[in-house]
Parts: sequence; C-alpha cells; structure tokens
Amino acid sequence: MGKAFVELIHERRVPLSIAGAADSRGAIAREVEPRGLLELKSSGALPAEVDPAEVIARTAPDVVVDLMSCDLDTGEPSLTTMFQALESGASVATATKAPLARHWAKLWEAAQSSGVSIGYAGAAGAALPAVAVARALARVDTVGSFEGVLTGTTTFVLEEMSGGATLEDAVAAAQAAGIAEPDPSVDIGGWDTAAKLVILANTLWDETLDLDQVHVTGLSDDLPERDRDGRIRLIGEAVRSTDAVRLNVEPRTIPTSHPLGRLAGRDKGVLFRGPAIGEVMVAGGSSSPRGAAASVMGDVLELGGMR
Ligand SMILES: NC(=O)c1ccc[n+]([C@@H]2O[C@H](COP(=O)([O-])OP(=O)(O)OC[C@H]3O[C@@H](n4cnc5c(N)ncnc54)[C@H](OP(=O)(O)O)[C@@H]3O)[C@@H](O)[C@H]2O)c1
Repeated sequence: MGKAFVELIHERRVPLSIAGAADSRGAIAREVEPRGLLELKSSGALPAEVDPAEVIARTAPDVVVDLMSCDLDTGEPSLTTMFQALESGASVATATKAPLARHWAKLWEAAQSSGVSIGYAGAAGAALPAVAVARALARVDTVGSFEGVLTGTTTFVLEEMSGGATLEDAVAAAQAAGIAEPDPSVDIGGWDTAAKLVILANTLWDETLDLDQVHVTGLSDDLPERDRDGRIRLIGEAVRSTDAVRLNVEPRTIPTSHPLGRLAGRDKGVLFRGPAIGEVMVAGGSSSPRGAAASVMGDVLELGGMR
C-alpha cells in the first residue's frame, strides 16, 4: 500500500513533501520527490542511509504515515513508531488495526498530550468510509448497535463453502484468486473483523474497548445451518446497553433480504441502528491497496490542515 500511497501523491500532484521513508530493510532521512522514492524502492529495498528508528527525530515531520505490516498480538512495529511520532509532536495517519484495537487509550493520551491527532480511516475498512459515517452518526443520534461484514475475504470463502467446498479448499481458492493472504489466519479466525469492530465502536461511542473484549468465533467446517433464503456471513456486531458494550464476531445465517445479506464478492458493509436514524447502511468501497491508500491520503490532508 505504501507504493499506492506514493503513486497517489505523484498522480494527483498533492502538495505534500516527503521528508523521509523507511521499509523493513532501509531508511532515508532526506526530502525526496514521489517519483524518486518509487525509483529507490523499485530495486526492492530502500537504501540503508540511516537507522530507521532515527527517521522521525531527524526529519521532524508534521504527519507520520504508518502503512506497515503489523503483528496483531503486539501491534509492532507500528505501535513503537506511532508512539515515537506522537511524542515527537507529529500526527499519525495509519492503516494498521492492531495498535488501535489494543492500545486505543494510550495512543490517544499520547496524541492529546502533544496536541496532535491520529487518522485511521484506512484501518477500519480501507476505502469503506465506515469511520466517517460512525463519526457523523455519533453527532446525530444515540446509536444503539451496529453490525457489519468487515472482512471481504471471509465472504468469498463462505460463498465457496456454500457450494460444497471444505474450509481448507475454500481458503486455497481464495489464495489462488489473490484474495486471501498467504497466512489467512487473522481473516479466517475472525480477528480482522474483531479489530475493525473495536475501532468503530470506540469511534462511535467514545469508548476505550480492547480486542480482548471481543467474543470471536472464526470460520470452521462447522458452520451454522443455512435455510433456503439465507446466506452465511461473518458478522461483527456491537451492542451498547446502559452499562456495557457487547462485541461479538461469528458466522451467522442472515436472509438474502437483509442489507448485509445482499453483499457479495469482497464487499464490506456496516449497518448502524439508532432510535432517530433508523437504519443507516454504508457499503462497498474498493478492497484494493489503492482504495485504502486513498483513504489514508484523506486523513493526511486533514491532519495537515489541507482539507
Ligand atoms: N492492502 C490493503 O488493501 C490494506 C487495507 C487496509 C489496511 N491495510 C493494512 O495496512 C498495512 C500495510 O498493508 P500492505 O498490504 O501494504 O502490507 P505489505 O504489502 O505487507 O507491506 C508492508 C510494508 O511494511 C513494511 N515494513 C514491515 N516491517 C517494517 C519495519 N519494521 N519497518 C519499516 N517498514 C516495515 C514492509 O517493508 P518491505 O517493503 O521492506 O517488505 C512493506 O513495505 C497492514 O497493516 C494492513 O493490515 C492494508
């Protein structure tokens, strides 16, 4: 997604200057044009001009863009980078879920004490503007619950299984189609959905919920019975009562007439319910790296005061 993000700066002539960059093997701490950065990266790795841990301190950026692959349990390497950025007085635009789903309160404390902010639209549905809709709805109603199909891969796998495939075969088909990750366990186990659920619930209800608070049942060969007009979807659901928020991820049979039952392919969608708004659905959005990068770009421009 890093490549897609830099390509967007170049193609759209976004007036951002890139103060430095790092990948898993190298780092530079000098201003570079988007095309120059793409060329540096085209050989595989960035040149190791500086210690990656020093890039933020040396360049003092306004916004740090975090598009790193990330461990779901520890949140690393994004977590350390995010704290480093926030404590140095830089805002963060991130597409990684784990730090937010595990350390929400601490990250926001760090942001507030430095007077900066965190943009995370790309972390909860890539191009699906679920975070923006959650924020908008929080202003207009006491939303009581929401449910969503938040991982496109699982819908593909469940459709294959509806045709008789085993979970193993369905996952192999998703990998062959370039839809599932080489290690699909985070998606198939329900943890990708769970992390997005936490991020959306914290956004909507100003909570500090954690991934450990989600009751997660991932996909297995033992799926719920499907009736004639039903489809199985991996559903993430958040329900707020007077004193608690209940978070649940599980495969469920839902009618094809249900707004989430109509989602196909890799479409994602979230259905919010509130006493005044009734039902509000946000659905679709490209699942591509470019779609997610565009979402992160929106955050960067907002954090930089350019939108
Ligand atoms: N792809 C999507 O559509 C999408 C959508 C929403 C959210 N996300 C999230 O966005 C993040 C990036 O996704 P992706 O698909 O672009 O992943 P990716 O293709 O695996 O790329 C990850 C990048 O992180 C870099 N990296 C890994 N460890 C690093 C370290 N210690 N220091 C510096 N850089 C490091 C890698 O460097 P190298 O180039 O050297 O390997 C690589 O450039 C992930 O957290 C993912 O969950 C992705």
